[in-house]
Amino acid sequence: MQSQSRAILITLPGREQRYRVLIGPGLRFDLGSHLKALDLPPRLFVVSDRRVAGLYGGQVTGVLEKAGFSPTLLEVSPGERAKTWPVVQRLARDLLAQGADRRTCLIALGGGVVGDLSGFLASIFMRGAPFIQVPTTLLAMVDASLGGKTAINLPEGKNLLGTFHQPRLVLTDPEFLDTLPPKERRNGLAEILKHGFIRDPDLLTRLERLRPRLFQDREALADIIHRAAAIKAEVVAADEREADLRRILNFGHTLGHALEAASRYRLAHGQAVAFGMLAALQLSVSLAGLSPGAAAYGQRLIKDFDLARKLPNLAMGDVLAALTLDKKREGQNSVFVLLEELGKPVIYPDVPLSLAAEFLQAGWA
Ligand SMILES: NC(=O)c1ccc[n+]([C@@H]2O[C@H](COP(=O)([O-])OP(=O)(O)OC[C@H]3O[C@@H](n4cnc5c(N)ncnc54)[C@H](O)[C@@H]3O)[C@@H](O)[C@H]2O)c1
Repeated sequence: MQSQSRAILITLPGREQRYRVLIGPGLRFDLGSHLKALDLPPRLFVVSDRRVAGLYGGQVTGVLEKAGFSPTLLEVSPGERAKTWPVVQRLARDLLAQGADRRTCLIALGGGVVGDLSGFLASIFMRGAPFIQVPTTLLAMVDASLGGKTAINLPEGKNLLGTFHQPRLVLTDPEFLDTLPPKERRNGLAEILKHGFIRDPDLLTRLERLRPRLFQDREALADIIHRAAAIKAEVVAADEREADLRRILNFGHTLGHALEAASRYRLAHGQAVAFGMLAALQLSVSLAGLSPGAAAYGQRLIKDFDLARKLPNLAMGDVLAALTLDKKREGQNSVFVLLEELGKPVIYPDVPLSLAAEFLQAGWA
């Protein structure tokens, strides 16, 4: 049942627009009243994937109906394959067939896939319709639902078509996580640890303390989500379009993406980022002056959360090739985010790839 909620106000530089991120156990039951406060037309569309729709679709549309709205649930397949142009087109035609117009609000009920897809659709539907994020994975709660990036994939690669479109509200209910599989929890935990590493060593201490009962203690979990989401919000609000500050969010990701690519995406994102962070901590000792004790503490945390699980057999040559590809896309230099201290990132322009690869390999040995 409802308890206190936590709020983050996101204001965007140079823009009138602002919106709130609300976080609290049981908040989904208040969705109707929060939507009313936004003065939205009664006709609503809830976009969800089949798995999440099966678990929560009826409950959420029921809450909306009770509040006087008239919602329709639109379902897509679970997983990345929903983030494609044919799905966008099919959803847009469904909206039109059911009388949606440019004031009609879309509600993204799901993980980062549903959020990216619905946000993309909302941003181009009749040149821009309102949308709301109701994230149901930990990763979406602390990362994907915040910042206004939307995207779909092309056969050539992930997230190649995208827009910036800010939601009118993000409503985060940690109770959704009760049904989230452990692998998906780990994807979110890797991002939370990352936020601690780049911005808030105190978050790391709290995580360490709460680890044995994190998913049982909903208020503590809500506090952690609140802090991690606030860090992401702070970074993206300072810089909506990805210049230097936003780059610090890439901690562990340069190497993580190379591992994901080399594994042909068999490796879970959180696990790849965890190995990327293990190596980035080690690189930080060698190149950025991070103390060996701080690096060892960070590496232990990553392992205690069971994020650095066994890797599938990867050829070092493939990882290096993926890193080199990343390098080309970034321009002349291979840019890494390293740490001078825990919570103090530095953009390091010229990391020798051979050293990065050596530390990566040491992490998974
Ligand atoms: N826009 C951004 O800034 C941003 C940032 C990071 C990631 N992303 C994108 O997010 C996507 C990954 O998001 P994700 O990790 O949330 O994956 P996801 O949306 O695919 O969800 C993972 C799985 O969990 C299931 N699920 C979701 N909520 C559940 C719940 N409460 N209970 C049980 N099962 C549940 C889903 O059905 C799915 O099978 C990627 O496409 C990535 O590109 C976007």
